[in-house]
Amino acid sequence: MNKEGLLKYFDSIFGQEPVIVRSPGRVNLMGEHTDYNKGFVLPAAIDKAIYMAASKREDDELHFVSSDLKETYRGSLHDLKPSSMHWPDYILGVIQQLKNNGHTIGGMNCVFGGDIPIGAGMSSSAALECATLFALNEIYGLGLDRLSIAKMAQKAENDFVGVQCGIMDQFANMFGRAEHLIRLDCRSLSYEYIPFDFKNTTILLLDTGVKHSLASSEYNTRRKQCEAGVQLVKRHHPEVQSLRDVTMEMLDEHVLASDKIIYQRCKYIVEENRRLLNACKDLQSGNVHAFGKKMFETHEGLSKLYEVSCEELDFLVTQVKKHPGVLGSRMMGGGFGGCTINLVKDNAVDALVKEVGTAYQRSMNKELKAYLTKIENGTALTSLGVEAMTLK
Ligand code: GLA
Repeated sequence: MNKEGLLKYFDSIFGQEPVIVRSPGRVNLMGEHTDYNKGFVLPAAIDKAIYMAASKREDDELHFVSSDLKETYRGSLHDLKPSSMHWPDYILGVIQQLKNNGHTIGGMNCVFGGDIPIGAGMSSSAALECATLFALNEIYGLGLDRLSIAKMAQKAENDFVGVQCGIMDQFANMFGRAEHLIRLDCRSLSYEYIPFDFKNTTILLLDTGVKHSLASSEYNTRRKQCEAGVQLVKRHHPEVQSLRDVTMEMLDEHVLASDKIIYQRCKYIVEENRRLLNACKDLQSGNVHAFGKKMFETHEGLSKLYEVSCEELDFLVTQVKKHPGVLGSRMMGGGFGGCTINLVKDNAVDALVKEVGTAYQRSMNKELKAYLTKIENGTALTSLGVEAMTLK
């Protein structure tokens, strides 16, 4: 459903004038699983987004409609608990955060829909969380800034949904800027915009169409393994707070002999942070080949050391690697399914999608979906195509 459709739909259900928020999905070029280790990430908001129309209610009720799923949730501000439909939890979770942080709001009507594929690793959940906070901030005049919205959205996912995610997705959603990547330091939360202007190059997402069920439990396990690595190093280097402060020498000396698996997990993170900082230099010098090569290295690390890939993701990366038009490729996001992110020469995209699609169908017996993505602005109010940035 497009924005105009959404507006009509909202009017037909609630008969009110809503605010409309556009809240995008995200890609991440490099720095995977580094956010919760206080390292660096390199994400961007994209041209696939959720649109949410929202308005106040006179009572304390909550009425939410997913226009794509054709499902309605009705509840109360005073009884926030996870719903069996699952999607309302992202909305309820941020409302709970507002309450926990002492903000006073009344009821809410909302209708949302959009074109971020669900389960493909483009962070539709962060988009829904941030859209809700942004809309409530507007309609109840809460005076929140972008960083508080990103932090509350992350906390909602941690506490209400139960995924111990880092800050990357919500930060990219709130701070995205068209045609730029965000180099975010997840320890200090300082960030820098780096133009993404590799010539004649497209960001292509290839969607495995799978989401293996171990995704969230393994995600939380990886976090624990990284923390265990930090504890092993800390015994000898009490100043160490996170893997961000750890070097390969420390790992070789204090982790390798104790636990091989923990060593591998930590090794990947330490290498990935270093790789990302070097990749930023490739971006600045326009060296797309060097950048792409690092993407393949990231995939190798995620697959062999961090072990969050899967057969389908590995298959796609191996397939595209053979193709001369492909500059870089790797799995993107938490892992165990979702998309690969590929840097592809513009003129090679069509043939590549066809070729890999056929191979994927033949070997994995699944349809391959492909998404061309453009880098766009982060969450903002939108009205009839005019985007207005109202927050700092
Ligand atoms: C998910 C999480 C993020 C991040 C990535 C992996 O998208 O929500 O916080 O950890 O996985 O890089």
